[in-house]
Amino acid sequence: MKHKNMKTVKVGLIGIGNVGLSLLKLYSKNRRFIEENTGCKVEFKTVCDKDESKQKLLPITTKFVTDYNIVVKDPEIDIVVELIGGIHPAYEIIMESIKHGKHIVTANKAVLSENWDKIFLTANRYNKSVYFEASVAAGIPVIQSLHEGLAGNRILGISGILNGTTNYILTLMSQYRCSYEFAVKRIRNMGIAEADITYDVSGYDTACKLSILSSLAFSSWVKLANIYIEGIEDIELQDIHFAESFGYKIKLLGNACVEGNKYYFEVRKFLVPQNNVFANIHYEDNAILLNSDHCGKVILVGKGAGGFPAASAVMADIISIAKDIVGAVSGRTHYVEYKPTKLKIVSIKDTEGCFYLRFITVDRPGVLAKIANVLGRYKVSIASVYQKEPLVKLRRGVPIILLTHKTREKSLLQALEKIKKLDVVLKPPVYIKVYS
Ligand code: HSE
Repeated sequence: MKHKNMKTVKVGLIGIGNVGLSLLKLYSKNRRFIEENTGCKVEFKTVCDKDESKQKLLPITTKFVTDYNIVVKDPEIDIVVELIGGIHPAYEIIMESIKHGKHIVTANKAVLSENWDKIFLTANRYNKSVYFEASVAAGIPVIQSLHEGLAGNRILGISGILNGTTNYILTLMSQYRCSYEFAVKRIRNMGIAEADITYDVSGYDTACKLSILSSLAFSSWVKLANIYIEGIEDIELQDIHFAESFGYKIKLLGNACVEGNKYYFEVRKFLVPQNNVFANIHYEDNAILLNSDHCGKVILVGKGAGGFPAASAVMADIISIAKDIVGAVSGRTHYVEYKPTKLKIVSIKDTEGCFYLRFITVDRPGVLAKIANVLGRYKVSIASVYQKEPLVKLRRGVPIILLTHKTREKSLLQALEKIKKLDVVLKPPVYIKVYS
């Protein structure tokens, strides 16, 4: 009876993929509980997908349309949930919906990181909220943590495993010594990878998430162009094997570093010491470390990909906006204040780190000396040298592995260019940064 007087907040959902379907299932299961906690009814008034066959999958009875304009222009709808992914027409849906007076919930990291300025300037002009918890690390409430929990702090750094697909691939390769190709095949249809898995394995997805977290944390749009991006496509089983034998795991991390007044942003493979939390994050789990000036290090761990974890974050955003609507304060304050980049961002080449280097060379005396000589000329100092048995017998050559002391990345790259040309070196050298 209590429900009779409750206000109803109407939602239009666009995109019935894995996350969209999971959202409707979550809602139909927890509906009563959500209403009690929110103090209002949340009604999925219309759901939309361009594929008509999706209608028969719906776990709730609701209006189904194939034209998103019907949702965007419906004056009764309060919140548009955009779950189609990709840039177009997601961007148009978000912008048009705002202009038609809707609040937005989106899981779309690509559209946000590429259009941070336009989306938030428009949302603020129209006094509408754009919430995006599911865009980074799915079910882990990292956006809320930055936005609310640590709001009184300056953020000094962010590091994280932000992509479930690549972490799953690296986990399989490490645990089962399977090839990269085999691992990619395994993950493809698990509902974790992007429709085009290239977005995951190239590091692009991690970079979008790092851009969103950094833009929020540093109150300044950190564009994808500001981020050094490397993926895992070139990972070789032998590097996983060697790294582990020296006490490291290989992980793809997003890393935002603040050094004094300088910032740098990188997405790359790292050798992570086995006793570090990131080394122990497996499969599609994500982990994010937020370093702040007064609260120190906060680490969030959980399901970073998959239908229900993402749906959980989307539902949380719907609930937040619904509560504001009921309290008549929705859109009154700006969720994100857009500011153009004012950060002093330095190139990764001008930063320092320790590195793992692998060379495949001819097997004869003097080779190591030749390599060490070039490294020395570029002031790259060697911390340790290993000549390990290869995982599989190489037809030609033997691997030499070096770990460096802290070195400027530019000097290392210059040295590697020279080493590549030595007649004793049979393949382009591999270098991977060590996480510290
Ligand atoms: N493809 C993404 C991942 C989905 O693997 O993390 C969640 O953003």
